[in-house]
Amino acid sequence: MIIAIDGPAASGKGTLGRRIAAHYGLRHLDTGLLYRAVALKLIHRDMLDDADAGAEEARTLDPAFLADPMLRSEAAGAGASIVSVYPQVRQALLEFQRRFASEAPGAVLDGRDIGTVICPDADAKLFVIASAEERARRRALELRGRGEDVDEEAILADIRARDHRDMSRANAPLKAADDAVTLDTTALDADAAFAAAVAIVDRLVARARTA
Ligand code: CDP
Ligand code: CDP
Repeated sequence: MIIAIDGPAASGKGTLGRRIAAHYGLRHLDTGLLYRAVALKLIHRDMLDDADAGAEEARTLDPAFLADPMLRSEAAGAGASIVSVYPQVRQALLEFQRRFASEAPGAVLDGRDIGTVICPDADAKLFVIASAEERARRRALELRGRGEDVDEEAILADIRARDHRDMSRANAPLKAADDAVTLDTTALDADAAFAAAVAIVDRLVARARTA
């Protein structure tokens, strides 16, 4: 079973992906971390504008690096949105993601283009959204919880800029797959979003079995 979860920044994809994977006994990959990892490597080398260096970092990415707490920083997120435009980087990471998805017993992948490009044949596709203001509030809460000093207005501006960049790029832009079910979590807490998502996945899987 493969479950694809896409949506904009801080919509709750990662949290939902982790819980859905545990619920169905599947492995989980937060694919944003891959782009964050490539960005952080390039930032350290002062080469964020070098697409070929990014592709090389993507091909040689050590999965253990995905656990580095630095990947959660806003700098890594903003850098990720820049390197994710490079076609060479997307191609190298596409192979990593398809390999991950194909291994037993199946997986939940969350990102921007999972349902459209990475796993177009996924058994269930969710497109998770929330208002930009609510997403900025969530991200600010999360960063404050980690002791970071935050300016919520700046986070909102970054989220809007990132949404725009992610939706307008030519290569694998952020958009719902035709067969994705949209889940608006603006008024839902993480538990309510999880319950709604499980209900959707159960319905999609049951429908696929009887088709
Ligand atoms: O956690 P947040 O939603 O803020 O970001 P993320 O999921 O970690 O992704 C960081 C950036 O990587 C996004 O803004 C996208 O530009 C890029 N990304 C992508 O292009 N494709 C994916 N499948 C996942 C992330
Ligand atoms: O992966 P993505 O950037 O889409 O979001 P996330 O990192 O999973 O979630 C951002 C924050 O929103 C986390 O601190 C969650 O606890 C919180 N949250 C949520 O995930 N879902 C809701 N419905 C409400 C809040």
